[in-house]
Amino acid sequence: MEFSTQTTASLHQIKTAALAVGVFSDGILSPAADVLDNASNGALRAVINAEFKAKPNTHLVLRNLAGVVATRVILVGLGKQDTYNAATHAGAELVFANYCANAGLTEGVSALASIDCGNVKLRSRAKAAAIAAGRATYRYTATVSEKTDAAPKLRKIALWVARNKANEAQQGLREGKAIANGMNLTRLLGDLPPNVCTPTYLGNTAKKLSKEFKSLKAEVLGLKQIEALKMGSFLSVARGSYEPPAFIVLKHTAGTKVAAKDRKAPIVLVGKGITFDAGGISLKPAANMDEMKYDMCGAASVLGTMRSIAELELDRDVIAIVPSCENLPSGRANKPGDIVTSMSGKTIEILNTDAEGRLVLCDALTYAERFKPAAVIDVATLTGACVVALGNVNTGLFSTDDALAEGLLQAGRETNDTAWRMPLDDAYQEQLRSNFADIANIGGPPAGAVTAACFLSRFTKSYAWAHLDIAGTAWRSGKDKGASGRPVPMLVQYLLDHA
Ligand code: BES
Ligand code: MN
Ligand code: ZN
Repeated sequence: MEFSTQTTASLHQIKTAALAVGVFSDGILSPAADVLDNASNGALRAVINAEFKAKPNTHLVLRNLAGVVATRVILVGLGKQDTYNAATHAGAELVFANYCANAGLTEGVSALASIDCGNVKLRSRAKAAAIAAGRATYRYTATVSEKTDAAPKLRKIALWVARNKANEAQQGLREGKAIANGMNLTRLLGDLPPNVCTPTYLGNTAKKLSKEFKSLKAEVLGLKQIEALKMGSFLSVARGSYEPPAFIVLKHTAGTKVAAKDRKAPIVLVGKGITFDAGGISLKPAANMDEMKYDMCGAASVLGTMRSIAELELDRDVIAIVPSCENLPSGRANKPGDIVTSMSGKTIEILNTDAEGRLVLCDALTYAERFKPAAVIDVATLTGACVVALGNVNTGLFSTDDALAEGLLQAGRETNDTAWRMPLDDAYQEQLRSNFADIANIGGPPAGAVTAACFLSRFTKSYAWAHLDIAGTAWRSGKDKGASGRPVPMLVQYLLDHA
């Protein structure tokens, strides 16, 4: 996809296959719609009065509007003007991008970002437009032989903005484009079947990224090396499967613009990479078990984020770590009651083999210490309890560091990829007491998302740490089943804000 800006005042003279203008449901025309209304001698207003209520997520296509050069004018509903916000704007851009992609158009012009929207900057609105175009053009085709759904031909989106704001819009588009590319990698890795997207496949993806971007270096540790590191907890999960585990380290180095002495400590991202979670001996029920192919979406999102920041040549060192394996029942698998020794030396009593995410993450969190990180952010489809608590709207955020937590919340608001902070009181830690080891791997039914985070917190004492539980936000179930690409926008924005 290519993104650009259009700054002519004469919107009605822009030659394009589709021109999007916003309309509020209170009958108020956006400035762009107003230009077209004047050019068409009131024809636009007449159509709106007759047949367009301008509710959010609705649109009306007008062909050959008098006085307007564009082949089609797409009226996009924005809802009431006084409730118009960043999320409604992002939704409107998606409606337009979906229209263009599904109609088989190759290009379009959107005037939606030109509409003022509370205190949301144009840069953020432009970013949202690019992210929407990325989503609209994503199609999963990797394992479909009968290509019924034609691949979208949409290649170019231009934003209509005021001339003195073109630079700001272009900055937003550049960031949004990189985020969209990262999200589409994340979506693809998530959507690929678990017999294709194995730990080895994730490792190869990291290596491929390091070939494509010169700021990236990949290292993929195999079984022998993981054993040498004494990652007894991670290995105990991996043992249950024939599929070899992989411990992936992907490093992004800031450009030479940053002098060595000004180099800040790296930010480390850790992604849960369970390429299939059957639960192990604590086997999951059969219904919807296929969706546990998405249990590597934490890994997919940190790889996607690395792709985005490499494309942006971010001026900050960032390291992604992905412990990856399958969680299957077998004669070699973990059993309830087993006690394993983590890389940190802490012993863990495994009371439920389906609480495997924390078992692989704890060793990765210990490994992260060697980088003396400024912050460590782990991303994981960790608990069903988080889905119960927050649904698919907000990612669960847990952190012992208020500045880090606030930075992530802010980055999420900025990119319409929101999180909600959850508690980590010491009182919850009691639920993880074990009679036979230093810690148990489950804390019983109450506050399941919190006790999972508490478990991780035991391994993160030497740095600022945040945990993102994306169990509810990483993918959608049902007829539109598919990975969302979240929380790539939040992570990339956080890194941009802290470069
Ligand atoms: N990958 C799952 C969490 C999950 C479940 C994410 C459903 C999205 C949808 C995780 O490994 C898991 O199985 N967690 C258990 C923990 C429990 C055994 C303490 C869960 O949530 O049931
Ligand atoms: Mn599990
Ligand atoms: Zn899992």
